[in-house]
Amino acid sequence: MIRLEGVSHAVDPGTPALREVSFEITAGEQVVLLGANGSGKSTLLKLIDGLVFPTAGAYRYAGTLVTAAQLKDAGYHRRFRREVALLFQTPDTMLFNPTVFDEIAFGLRQLLPGDEKDVGARVHHWAETVGVTRHLHRPPFTLSGGEKQKVCLAALLALEPKVLLLDEPTASLDPRSTGWLIDLLQDLDVTTLVTTHNLSLAPELGERALVLGEDHHLLHDGPVDAFLKNRDLLIEANLVHSHRHRHGKTAHRHFHLHDWD
Ligand SMILES: Nc1ncnc2c1ncn2[C@@H]1O[C@H](COP(=O)(O)OP(=O)(O)OP(=O)(O)O)[C@@H](O)[C@H]1O
Ligand SMILES: [Mg+2]
Repeated sequence: MIRLEGVSHAVDPGTPALREVSFEITAGEQVVLLGANGSGKSTLLKLIDGLVFPTAGAYRYAGTLVTAAQLKDAGYHRRFRREVALLFQTPDTMLFNPTVFDEIAFGLRQLLPGDEKDVGARVHHWAETVGVTRHLHRPPFTLSGGEKQKVCLAALLALEPKVLLLDEPTASLDPRSTGWLIDLLQDLDVTTLVTTHNLSLAPELGERALVLGEDHHLLHDGPVDAFLKNRDLLIEANLVHSHRHRHGKTAHRHFHLHDWD
C-alpha cells in the first residue's frame, strides 16, 4: 500500500531530513515510527501524506507514484486526500474554522460535497466517539491542547481514511485519553503509522517499528519488542536518556533504557 524506495528528502542540500529510506507497509498493518528529535519522523509522515516530495528515490501509494504533478490531477487529489490522513504534531496548525462543528465538517464538505444532513450526522457521530460533543459550538482556539487533538482526530476519522498517519497523537493526552486512543486505533480497520517518544507505549501502537537514526537513515525495521530489548540499537538511535541521580551527598549518572525505569 505504501512503498518507499531509496527516499531522501532535504529542504536544502545542507539540511537532510531523510536519507535513502526504503520500506513497505501493507494494508491493515499498524506500525510505530521512532527516532530522536530531528531524525525525520514528521518529515516522513508529511511525505507519505503528499505534502513534501522525495528529492531522490520514489514513493508509491497503492502502486501509483506520488508526485506534485500527480496530485495536481483533481480526481486523484480528492481520492488521495480522502484515503490518506495526517494528524499534525501541533494540532494548532490544523485548526482554523469558526467552530468545532465546522472544523470536523470541513474535510467532509470539501471531499464529499452534497448532503449537508449527512455531514451533520457524521460530525455528531465522530464528535461523540472522541468525546467533544459538548464543545461543538465553541471556537477551536479556546479548547485545551488535548481537546484540540481530539477535534483534529475527529475531523480525520470523519473521512474514513484507509491510512492514518499520527504524529505524536498522545503528546497532549492524559492517561485516560491515551488508553482510549490506543483502544480506538486497535478497533479501527485502517493502516496506521504512529510516532511516539513514549517507548513504553510503542508496543501498544503496533507490532512493527520503523526507527530513524540521527543520520536520517532507517536504523531498524522489525518487531518493536526486539528493538526495545536491544540496548546497543537504542543507544545508537539516541532513544535512551541519562541524567544525574542524587543519593544524599553523592550523585551518579547512568542510562535509562525505558521511561518507566
Ligand atoms: N521546512 C524545513 N526547513 C528546514 N529544515 C527542516 C524543515 N523541516 C524539517 N527540517 C529539518 O529536518 C530534520 C527532521 O525534522 P523532523 O521535523 O522531521 O524531525 P522529527 O523526527 O519529527 O523531530 P521531533 O521528534 O522533534 O518532532 C530536522 O533537522 C529539521 O530541522
Ligand atoms: Mg516531529
